[in-house]
Amino acid sequence: MMKGLPEGFLWGGATAANQCEGGYMEGGKGPGTVDMIPWGENRLAVMQGHMDYRELPEDSYFPAREAIDMYHRWKEDIALMAEMGFKCCRFSFAWSRIFPTGEEEAPNEEGLKFYENIIDEMLRLHIEPVVTICHFDVPLHLEQKYGSWRSRRLIDAYLRYCRAIFERFKGKVRYWMTFNEINMLMHLPFMGAGISFKKGENELEVKYQAAHNELVASALATRLAHEIDPESKVGCMLAAGQFYPYSCDPEDVWEAMKKDRVNYFFIDVQSKGEYPAYAKKQMEREQITIQMEPEDEAILRENTVDYIAFSYYSSRMISAHPHPEIETSGNAFKTLRNPWLKASQWGWQIDPLGLRITMNSLYDRYQKPLFIVENGLGAVDTIQKDGTISDDYRIEYLSAHIREMIKAVEEDGVDLIGYTPWGWIDLVSASTGEMKKRYGFVYVDKDNAGNGTLERRKKKSFDWYQQVIATNGECL
Ligand code: BG6
Repeated sequence: MMKGLPEGFLWGGATAANQCEGGYMEGGKGPGTVDMIPWGENRLAVMQGHMDYRELPEDSYFPAREAIDMYHRWKEDIALMAEMGFKCCRFSFAWSRIFPTGEEEAPNEEGLKFYENIIDEMLRLHIEPVVTICHFDVPLHLEQKYGSWRSRRLIDAYLRYCRAIFERFKGKVRYWMTFNEINMLMHLPFMGAGISFKKGENELEVKYQAAHNELVASALATRLAHEIDPESKVGCMLAAGQFYPYSCDPEDVWEAMKKDRVNYFFIDVQSKGEYPAYAKKQMEREQITIQMEPEDEAILRENTVDYIAFSYYSSRMISAHPHPEIETSGNAFKTLRNPWLKASQWGWQIDPLGLRITMNSLYDRYQKPLFIVENGLGAVDTIQKDGTISDDYRIEYLSAHIREMIKAVEEDGVDLIGYTPWGWIDLVSASTGEMKKRYGFVYVDKDNAGNGTLERRKKKSFDWYQQVIATNGECL
């Protein structure tokens, strides 16, 4: 039996442009939808597409605009990842840094150069760049002119962007992901895909139309990547986490299966190349009509993804019957509180075995290599008097998950490319806009309201993770 993880396993860490870069409007960048999402009480309504960002109070604070200023500090940050021994780094490009409005004929050279410098520095330090093409951001102009992904026009704009980056980074970037957490569109449509709603419209229909446009764009991008660089690998990316039934009542079990399908729907299409039967039936039942072009079926069928990337923070639980007393949520998903699990300070339930269960479900379903591109614990960190940060809770969370991940590979035979814990450096929280919800091995001096020196400081988990990588997961 194979022991441990394969040689060349991609250990690393993950971030997203809108949560760490800042550099709002610098270097020719145009505004993105994510730059309009405020911190505070209006955040959720904007993310859900139920409040227009143009109606926000003037003194609103938009955390993505400075974030942790990686735009100016990328070199020092890459040095930190190299010190931890990263084999890869997952990060995203800001679409509007490369196409400021999304409709230019040619890309913004300054934006491309910015990412080229980063990629070259990573390669120099033997860190494999893993790039998310779209992590929740859409050029604001495309949202204002076309209503974002509800319009098919976005497909062309996205492909122009893809062509520019595939051509520029050919031979340098091997791993691409088309859309981060594509299923987030169902839960936080403005955050996930720049979608906001008009009064009285059929929201579900709008979401499925946007989903279809993204799915066609993803398939065409996969084809383009393979044409431009046959060595490149393109993945889908799912916000994963198995739904457990509340009880063994078959009604609960059925409910859990249906809930899982809401999420699987996207990657079923991206991975198997066609709309699953259950989705077609559901659309029929709910009288959802979406615009498809005659060529779409063939595009989806012929351009499936090479690997399945996913984030995992928590499992979920559901019942067919109401249980308001135990309702909670995690990563934008409504769930019930599972009595067998503890939860984070933000109420996200902690379930390391759930990672192994999720990995097995995904591998059984798709039989394609998996890539865990997010996992981690958001927690409050305190700097001790001597300047150290003892984040043992984070070490405990991550080591328990890595143990289960290794079992999935070693004992269950799951093919796994790599593991990039989320927010290897503290960054802006997607769900809450806070800085206080920290994930990193590296602390960043900044608070929720935007105050702080932005100084970087290693936590205890920094040395721990360095050891984990050095021993290929043996020393946890
Ligand atoms: C995922 C996203 O949903 O979870 C990230 O891809 C996000 O962008 C991460 O930051 C953790 O969620 P949060 O809300 O704690 O930042």
